[in-house]
Amino acid sequence: MNKLLLAFLFFGLIASVTISMKIDVRTQSEPNLGDIPLCLICDFAVGKIEKYLDDKANTTVIIDKVEKDCNILRNSWIGKCKNIVTEYGPKIIDLLESNESPKAVCAIIDLC
Ligand SMILES: *[C@@H]1O[C@H](CO)[C@@H](O)[C@H](O)[C@H]1NC(C)=O
Repeated sequence: MNKLLLAFLFFGLIASVTISMKIDVRTQSEPNLGDIPLCLICDFAVGKIEKYLDDKANTTVIIDKVEKDCNILRNSWIGKCKNIVTEYGPKIIDLLESNESPKAVCAIIDLC
């Protein structure tokens, strides 16, 4: 009888440790691709592009520099950031050059 009780306690302990480890892993894991806040990444990219436009850099140089800037973001966002810069960079530059506000730019390209 004592042994049975001990066994129950033991398995209970293992189970609760396992569950709390699972919760831990889940709260610490990076969001999956669907959870990546495109709007935040767009704001980030537009801010950088604006700065390089002020420096009178051309489109090629701007896109290249902002792609490198993406590397300061958290790992799971870097690829998406580079995709956005490659895909929307020229459009973002056009919009900023025609005096759209940075806030408006991300809305126009449907990322915010
Ligand atoms: C952009 O600027 C860089 C550096 O000034 C220059 O090397 C490059 O040829 C330019 N590219 C275009 C398309 O004008």
